[in-house]
Amino acid sequence: MDFQARLEALTHQLRPWSALWSRSILQGWPESGAAYPEDWLDYARSLDETGERRLDQGELVGAAPPSLGALLGALEELTKLPWHEDRHPMTVSETQGLSDKKAHELARVLALLGSRTRFIQQAVDIGGGMGHLARLCARTFGWTFHSIDRDAALQDKGRQWLKRARSPVGGPLHFIQASVEDGPQPRIDPLFSGRDRASIGLHTCGPLALTQIRKSRGAGFVLNIGCCYDKLELPRDYPVSGIGREHPLPFTPHALALTTRGRPRKTEAEFARMKQVYAWRFAFHLLSKRQFPERDFVRAGDAPRALYDSPFASYALDRLERLGLSSNMTADELTAFEVSVRAETRDLLLCHLLRDRFARALEVVLLLDRAIFLEELGFEVELLQLFEPDVSPRNLALVASQSV
Ligand SMILES: C[S@@+](CC[C@H](N)C(=O)[O-])C[C@H]1O[C@@H](n2cnc3c(N)ncnc32)[C@H](O)[C@@H]1O
Repeated sequence: MDFQARLEALTHQLRPWSALWSRSILQGWPESGAAYPEDWLDYARSLDETGERRLDQGELVGAAPPSLGALLGALEELTKLPWHEDRHPMTVSETQGLSDKKAHELARVLALLGSRTRFIQQAVDIGGGMGHLARLCARTFGWTFHSIDRDAALQDKGRQWLKRARSPVGGPLHFIQASVEDGPQPRIDPLFSGRDRASIGLHTCGPLALTQIRKSRGAGFVLNIGCCYDKLELPRDYPVSGIGREHPLPFTPHALALTTRGRPRKTEAEFARMKQVYAWRFAFHLLSKRQFPERDFVRAGDAPRALYDSPFASYALDRLERLGLSSNMTADELTAFEVSVRAETRDLLLCHLLRDRFARALEVVLLLDRAIFLEELGFEVELLQLFEPDVSPRNLALVASQSV
C-alpha cells in the first residue's frame, strides 16, 4: 500500500472538518455545535430511531446532504485496509481459561506470525502480561521467547499457569519484569536486535507502541497493535514520521480520545443504552451550566448503571451530591428541566453521532504515520485488519519486516 498517498488523501478529507473532530462537543457547547453545517443537523434531526442507529453505523438513509454523503463515502474508502483473516487452530487445552476475546486475538496473531516469520528464532513481547502469547509462540514455533511486563503480579500468574499446564512448553520461555522505556536499557535492548528476532506488542497502550517501534530498529520482524491513543502526548507522539510532519493534522487530546471510540456496530440494546446515558449526561450538563455559570465544566462522571435507568431527577440529585453541589431544585423541577431541554439534548446527541464518523479515519491517520515511520527505519510494512472489530475493536496491526 502507498501509505503516503493514503495519508495525504485522508488528511485532505479531514482537515476541512477539524473544527468538528478536534473539539469536545459538550465542553464547547453551544459554540461547538455551530461548527456543524446546518443541513447536516437538519438531516440528522429528520431521522427516526432506526435512522439514528444507521447513522451511528456510518450509513445515511433518505436524502442526506451531498457534502455529508461525499465525506462519509470518501472516509469509508480511505479507511479500508486489507484483512488477515486466517486463524491458527488452537486446542481446548491451549484456550482453556482465556476469554473469547483473547482466544480470538491469539488465533489471529499466531496465524499471522506463522505466515511471516520464516527467519525468526527468538521473540520478545512488550507488555506480555501473563505470557499467553509467549507460551503459545514458544510451543507453536519453538522460539526462545522473552515476555516483558512491568506488572510482576501478572507475570507470577503466568508462571503458575505454566506450572499447571500439562502440555510441553516448546522453546525456552523467560519472563522479564521491566518497564520498557525510551532511551538505553542495557538489560533488555539486545532482545530487540537481530535479523532472527521478532518484536511483538499486542495492544501496547498509547506511547508504548512508539517505544516498541524505536527499540526494534534492528529487529528482523515487528508486529505492533496499538490501543489507548488518548494516552499519547502531543506533539511528541504525533506525527512521528518525516512525511507525517509534512502533512500534520491539528490533533488535540479530544481528537485522540475520539480515535479510541471507533466501533463499527452497536447492538440495538447498546445503542439504546448509549442514548440513555447521553440523555442524562447532556441534560445534567445543561443544568449545571445554568445553575453554576461560574464553574468551567462540571464533570458528571460515570454513574452506576442503574441510575441511567432511573428518572432524571434521581440521577441529577445523585450527581450533585457526589460533586458537593446543590441546585435547590425539587425532583419535579428537575424533571421539568430535563423535558424543557430535550430538543437541545437531542442536538447534542446528533452532533456526537456525526462527530463519531471521524473516529476510524483519525485512528487510521495515526497508524499510517507509524507505518511510514517504520518504512523510514528501513522496514517493509503492512497495515492490516487482524481482529473482528465486534470482538476486538482496536484491530489494526502494523507488520514490518526488514527489507532484504
Ligand atoms: C493492554 S495490556 C496488554 C496485555 C497483553 N499484551 C494482551 O494483549 O493481553 C498492556 C500491558 O502492558 C503492560 N505495560 C504497560 N506499559 C508498560 C511498560 N512501559 N513496560 C512494560 N510493560 C508495560 C501492562 O502492565 C499490561 O500488562
